[in-house]
Amino acid sequence: MGKSLKIAVLPGDGIGPEIIEQALNVVKIVCNKFGHELSYEYAIVGACAIDAVGEPYPKATHELCMQSDAVLFGAIGDPKYDNNPSAKVRPEQGLLKMRKDLGLYANIRPVTTFPSLIHKSPLRAELIDGADFMCIRELTGGMYFGRPQGRAEDGNTAYDTCVYTREEVERILHLAYKYAGQRNKKVTIVDKANVLATSRLWRQIGQEIATQYPDIETEFMFVDNAAMRIIQWPKSFDVLVTENLFGDILTDEASVITGSLGMLPSASVGIHTSVFEPIHGSYPQAAGKNIANPLATILSAALMFEYAFGMMEEGALIRQAVTASMDANVVTEDIADNTKAFSTSEVGEWIVKWIENK
Ligand code: IPM
Ligand code: MN
Repeated sequence: MGKSLKIAVLPGDGIGPEIIEQALNVVKIVCNKFGHELSYEYAIVGACAIDAVGEPYPKATHELCMQSDAVLFGAIGDPKYDNNPSAKVRPEQGLLKMRKDLGLYANIRPVTTFPSLIHKSPLRAELIDGADFMCIRELTGGMYFGRPQGRAEDGNTAYDTCVYTREEVERILHLAYKYAGQRNKKVTIVDKANVLATSRLWRQIGQEIATQYPDIETEFMFVDNAAMRIIQWPKSFDVLVTENLFGDILTDEASVITGSLGMLPSASVGIHTSVFEPIHGSYPQAAGKNIANPLATILSAALMFEYAFGMMEEGALIRQAVTASMDANVVTEDIADNTKAFSTSEVGEWIVKWIENK
C-alpha cells in the first residue's frame, strides 16, 4: 500500500540546487515505483535566504519543515562570508538554527565502502575493504551552541564555551546503544576526558549507561587516538558516538574511507522533523557548472526513506542504483580517475533510468 509523503526541499547555496534536483528526481521515481503519493515544497536557507529576506533560516522555512514528514537539504555557505569574519549574519547560523529549532540532536553518518571505489582511496585496500560503521554526532550542544561566545572588548581575545548537560549526553548515548543493538553490538564513546570537563561528564554517564546494555561492548577512546584509529583500523568500529565538534571533524576524516567527501550522506534526527543532507559543503567553486557529485545527496534520500518513513526496500533500491552507477563508471570527476567524468545531471539521470527499468 502506498503512502502519502510530504517533503520540504531546501536546496541552499552553491551546488545545493544542482545536487538536490538529482536527489529529488530519484525520490520521485522511487515514489512512482512503490505507489507513494509525493508532495513537496521548496524553501530558502543559508546565504540565499540572507540575500532574499535578511536571515539564514526564515520563519516560513521553519514552519514548512515543521509541517513536513521529512526535510531534504542541499548545502549552505558562501565565500563572501568565509572571508569576512566580522559579518554579523552568516549562512551557517541558518543551519545551526534549523538543527536547534527542529531539536535535531543526533546526526547519523554511516561510513561504508563501495567496491568500485576501494582502489581509489589513499588508504590501502585491505585496511578499508569491509569497513562499515556508523558515526553518531551530537548536534545541538557543545561548543557550537555554548555561551558565552565572543570577543573581549579590546578585540584581541576570543572565547567559545563547551557545555553539555546530563540529559543531552544520556539521550544521544541511548540512541547509540539502540543502533549498536541492531548492528554489531559495539559502542565506541569518543571524548577528551583527560583534559575537558564536558568529556569527563560524557565518560561518567557512559560508564553508567554501559551497565544497562550488558550485551553490547563499550569502548572509551580519546579523540586524538580515534582520529588515528579511524584511518589505521576502520574495521574496529561499529557505532562511534561523540560530541558535536569532534563529530564534525572525525566524519570528514572518515569520508576518506568511502573514497570521496562527495559520497557521505547523513540523517539528523531528534524531536521534530528529520533532516537529510550530504555531509559536504556548498562547494562554491563548482556552483552552476554541473560537475558536483550528487551521490551523497541521493544516498541521503535513501536514508530519508529508511529513517523518516521506515521504507527499507525503497532505501535499498536507491543504494543499489548508486552502486550500479559506480560499477558502470558513470561518475563525476571527483571519483572518475582514468575514466570519463560525467556531469551531475548525467549521473542523476542514469540512476533514475536504472530505477525505472528495475
Ligand atoms: C557539517 C558542516 C556544518 C557543521 C557547517 C556548515 C556549519 O560542516 O554539517 O558538518 O560544522 O556542522
Ligand atoms: Mn562538517
